[in-house]
Amino acid sequence: MAHWTEVCALDDIDNEDVMRFDHNNHTYAVYRLNGKVYATDGLCTHEKVHLADGLVMEHVVECPKHNGRFDIRDGRALGAPVCVHLKTYPAKVEGGQVLVQLG
Ligand code: FES
Repeated sequence: MAHWTEVCALDDIDNEDVMRFDHNNHTYAVYRLNGKVYATDGLCTHEKVHLADGLVMEHVVECPKHNGRFDIRDGRALGAPVCVHLKTYPAKVEGGQVLVQLG
């Protein structure tokens, strides 16, 4: 059965923003976009920089180091220098809380 992990209150993340979430020695990036939430691995697939320090523009996160871009919704790498997709995780809002299915 799916196990959902509580991350934070929805209000803890600004709209079109990203937050770092660490759990069981793994780091994630959790995004809020127009009432929906998304979760991906936290580290850029290029050089392991945390995407929570990046910029969110609509459904895209831009890595702070070399401006690699990923689609937040499906983790797709959108062009050089990133070519390896990001892993994504199911995320939802319930009772004002952000929940992510990590495993
Ligand atoms: S470390 Fe993210 S694009 Fe290079």
